[in-house]
Amino acid sequence: MFCGVSFLRAFRSSTSLLLLMMDNAQILPPCKKLKMENSSKFSSEENTHDKPCKQSSSATPIKSDNNGNSDIRLEYCTDERELENNDSNYFKCYADLSIHRVMIGDYSRTQTYRRAILSNYKLFHQKVVLDVGAGTGILSLFCAQAGAKKVYAIEASAIAKQAEKVVVENGFSDKIIVMQVKIEDAELPEKVDVIVSEWMGYMLMYESMLPSFLFARDKWLKKDGHLFPQEVRIYIAPISDHQEYEYSVEFWKKVEDAYKVDMSALASTAAEQMRAAVHVMSVDPAAIQSHASCVTSMHLATVEQDNSECAQGSFRCSCFGRKTVHGFVIWFTVHFPNDIILSTSPYERETHWEQSVLYIPPVHVEQDTVISGKLWIRKGEVYHRFLDIELDYQIDNGENRKMKFKMKD
Ligand SMILES: C[S@@+](CC[C@H](N)C(=O)[O-])C[C@H]1O[C@@H](n2cnc3c(N)ncnc32)[C@H](O)[C@@H]1O
Repeated sequence: MFCGVSFLRAFRSSTSLLLLMMDNAQILPPCKKLKMENSSKFSSEENTHDKPCKQSSSATPIKSDNNGNSDIRLEYCTDERELENNDSNYFKCYADLSIHRVMIGDYSRTQTYRRAILSNYKLFHQKVVLDVGAGTGILSLFCAQAGAKKVYAIEASAIAKQAEKVVVENGFSDKIIVMQVKIEDAELPEKVDVIVSEWMGYMLMYESMLPSFLFARDKWLKKDGHLFPQEVRIYIAPISDHQEYEYSVEFWKKVEDAYKVDMSALASTAAEQMRAAVHVMSVDPAAIQSHASCVTSMHLATVEQDNSECAQGSFRCSCFGRKTVHGFVIWFTVHFPNDIILSTSPYERETHWEQSVLYIPPVHVEQDTVISGKLWIRKGEVYHRFLDIELDYQIDNGENRKMKFKMKD
């Protein structure tokens, strides 16, 4: 059972209304925090892609809501090309306080950062810190509380003005310097001992803020400086999800029972649309059909800028028992010094990132059936804050598929 579905559905429609009220003419911004899930919008089973971390090329956007919601967002769906190289909507989105409320209200996220910073206070005491994408300034405040002598709070959006208020109210204006500027354009008077940032998006890579974090590392971190976080990992596992399948696909076969009209012809389109989306949702741990496999681990001190636009790796899962597998769940973990971990796993307390689900044509497995494959999560070919995803998987009954997905706004 997917416990988050109805909540998300409700959340999505109110979010859409909110955006309508905010700015009638605005293109929907690609904010990770507003739960714009189920919006990825194409996938296709593809035959070729064997180049590691290369951009996928053929994809057909499907502007439709695959859960049957009448979706106001669609009015705003815009060609991805309109967003190309234009980050103004991205930063406009982060200028709004509501998105920061969602992030700060995510207790696992914010409390883990607080614990990571305060329990590692020796790394901050009397040190110079850079907060990349400071938002409302909360992480900068934690650093100042941990004893930092100076914190550069760099924030490109207009939320920086609110951060300034928070800094003054908390009596840290002598220590925290808020600058409204993109980190790529920031000029600091000195190099720093520590860089903190919360840059992670859905499926880790959505939003593509990692390159900005690494830019800051390469330009501003002292040789023996520390990164918060220092490592990230991506996990995958097969899931069984009859409920979503029933809801989205089998529904069309049952319409006749109620209205004496046969709508089963729509079931295959419904299945295609379901598999066309990256579904951001809370996955019930009971749906998971194997131990998780770690697809990749990135050590942020050493990962190169050129490799920061694609997370890729292989996986191998051995199934728990006789079941139908409907897809894969993907989540990530974020690691700080002293073994402090922020986890978005379905087994842990829910975060606003929830998990990401990729649906596949249902397949029957037995105990110890091995599902192996490879996953590529790349920055969007057209708009860099979206994601192009490729999944290759083999099942030891001989089934072998290559699928493509896109995560858009
Ligand atoms: C996920 S939010 C985190 C906000 C805050 N640090 C927190 O933890 O609540 C990321 C922030 O980074 C900002 N940001 C993203 N890219 C940036 C860049 N290149 N330069 C400066 N700020 C950036 C966004 O505007 C947003 O406010």
